[in-house]
Amino acid sequence: MAMTKQSLTEVVSKVPGPDGCPLSESGVLLGASVCDGMVKVRVRAHAGWDEGVMSRVASSVREAVARYAATEHAALVSCVTEFVGNDGNTLKAFRFGGAAASGTSPRAGHTPIPGLDDKSNPLAGVRHIIAVGAGKGGVGKSTIALNLAVGLARRGLSVGLLDADIYGPSMPTMLGLGTHDAIVHQGMLQPFFTHGVKCMTIGKLVDPDKPLIWRGPMAHGAFTQLAEQTQWGELDYLVIDLPPGTGDVSLTMAQTLSLTGAVVVCTPQKVAQDDAVRAARMFEALKVPVLGVVENMSCFVGDDGKVYDIFGRGGAKKMSERLGVPFLGEVPITMSLREHSDRGDPTANFTGTHEAGKRLGKALEELVSSCEAQVALATMKRGGQKPTLTIS
Ligand SMILES: Nc1ncnc2c1ncn2[C@@H]1O[C@H](COP(=O)(O)OP(=O)(O)OP(=O)(O)O)[C@@H](O)[C@H]1O
Ligand SMILES: [Mg+2]
Repeated sequence: MAMTKQSLTEVVSKVPGPDGCPLSESGVLLGASVCDGMVKVRVRAHAGWDEGVMSRVASSVREAVARYAATEHAALVSCVTEFVGNDGNTLKAFRFGGAAASGTSPRAGHTPIPGLDDKSNPLAGVRHIIAVGAGKGGVGKSTIALNLAVGLARRGLSVGLLDADIYGPSMPTMLGLGTHDAIVHQGMLQPFFTHGVKCMTIGKLVDPDKPLIWRGPMAHGAFTQLAEQTQWGELDYLVIDLPPGTGDVSLTMAQTLSLTGAVVVCTPQKVAQDDAVRAARMFEALKVPVLGVVENMSCFVGDDGKVYDIFGRGGAKKMSERLGVPFLGEVPITMSLREHSDRGDPTANFTGTHEAGKRLGKALEELVSSCEAQVALATMKRGGQKPTLTIS
């Protein structure tokens, strides 16, 4: 039997915190996830919690998880408990290795997470890197990248979002980073933490009204600094929002990072598809597997739920078939999505209650599931572990 996210969350929620209250009742449990026997638990640390307190909580979590794994006869490869502060930055993380699975030792020793303590490679703790691109501008790359990141984080995964559009960063607005200032600690940029996602954007490091003109080598430097000098810590996913086109940033990214794959965004129109084909070909040429194609703006859904195929629908699906890559789903145009993007509240895209909002939430959840499935397949093709299929 395999561990499921739902049961794992139930198990972890009952673990007593330092005050004896279950973690869920104290409101400090941020999420729990499991993939291929690797368990990840995120806890918000209270101001007074020192390392000893966090270590005791991590041990209790590990013991509860080991007991649960043993009952299910499930393999437990590792159990990571990550403590984050009120500003969302990781304070401390405790990893119990495979020895924890036996459940024989009351407290296995902990080792630091690679990405946190290995200053030479701040991306060492990132499991999957997904780039979101398109040949064409304005088709919704940033929108899809952001909602993919938020959707993954809502599933209890640890997620980062890198706004790699160094020419026209959108994330400060879309994430509502207005009053937040960038913080540098020991020479490393500390990612912003909002909507459950760690994010970094050049838009918070430069004058927002100044045009950003980067030539080849400068673009290369700007991207690598953002990617490699941000303290990402341990992440399940890092989503990268690319600038439009097939230029310097994509090239640098493919040369410097080990990507799991790329998601290509396009709208139903022929012109967008032509550009998306070029983007897919570019990823192939750069040896980045294409995880699939998303059709954004596939139709317009009014608040009453009425559907209008204003751009003609289904073109991206046909294009994905032509390219021989998976179709990841379609996202409608809704007035709420545009409004939430402008006011920096992507979480609201998943919680809509009127017809259009419900439809949008469902479409985004389906997109997130398709991406997770394709990442699992891509990992397997690369020689990773077998994906775990969870049917719920
Ligand atoms: N499905 C949608 N429904 C409503 N509005 C949308 C949708 N997709 C994108 N938008 C809006 O369209 C605009 C362009 O989207 P976005 O910035 O994501 O595109 P982009 O491809 O990243 O653009 P660029 O090429 O400039 O980086 C934004 O204002 C966004 O809020
Ligand atoms: Mg964009």
